[in-house]
Amino acid sequence: MPSNIRIKTINHVGIPVWDRRVSLKFYRDVLGLQVIPSMVDSPNIVWTKTLDGTMVHLIEPSDGETLGSPHVAFEVEDFDVAVEALRGSSFTNISDISVMLDGQGKIFIDDIDGNRLEFTTASGLRPSYRVADALGYTTETGENIVVDSPAKIQVRTVNHVGIAINHRPASMTMYRDLLNIDVIPHQVSGNTLAWTELPDDSMVHLIDPPESIGDRGDTRPHVAFEVADIIATAEALIEADIEIVGSIGTRADGQQALFIYDPDGNRIEIATRGDHSNTPRAVDENGYTSENGDLL
Ligand SMILES: [Fe+2]
Ligand SMILES: [Fe+2]
Repeated sequence: MPSNIRIKTINHVGIPVWDRRVSLKFYRDVLGLQVIPSMVDSPNIVWTKTLDGTMVHLIEPSDGETLGSPHVAFEVEDFDVAVEALRGSSFTNISDISVMLDGQGKIFIDDIDGNRLEFTTASGLRPSYRVADALGYTTETGENIVVDSPAKIQVRTVNHVGIAINHRPASMTMYRDLLNIDVIPHQVSGNTLAWTELPDDSMVHLIDPPESIGDRGDTRPHVAFEVADIIATAEALIEADIEIVGSIGTRADGQQALFIYDPDGNRIEIATRGDHSNTPRAVDENGYTSENGDLL
């Protein structure tokens, strides 16, 4: 049964990295993410943002040794309502609420496969004068000396995240029923992805089954960054010596996409925005998609 949770958008994604000195050469200098002051005390997290303000947190091992897992954070309309619904759900691995230095609240819960999901209020609920240096190390006072990215690429926002699941109907009790994310027809071949979409058109793609991952890691969990021009982006990547895995693909809704890896082996997709508002495809409640009555 649908719950009262209303997700507005993806607030941020968290990507595990070993060393910001290496990672920022990729995320800041090639992909053009802007370093911003961090609003948490943990010194191991670099805060960055895309053009529309969606954040990308690069997370170094907090103990220096153990690389974490990626996560996605959903910003909800009413945080208290969301917390109550999460706590009342059958999903049990739930954190306490914590509040960041700009007043942003957050809480974590696991899906049935142990994927960590975060839920937040909006960012910047109270003023902060924290400052960051070029590497994103943040302090309460001093001068803000973040450097502007020299990148040609401009990431507009997070287009979607890809999350691996093992039991689609059971997973849908989280994503479709508890989180109220719309299941929409996917725009790719086969039926190993369930596409779901948030009100602002950003998406969560459920990768089912994870064994559908191809030789090149084709459907491995990933973050997809959105750009306006895929060709110009590809050229800038080549110029920066970033290997494009395979070639640029085009989906049924016109979305163009390519895949690269960050310096730590995190799979990263670069994609344009597709337009599937008039798709001829139909979808069932679990994301299995048909065209002209035939299951893809
Ligand atoms: Fe987070
Ligand atoms: Fe993707």
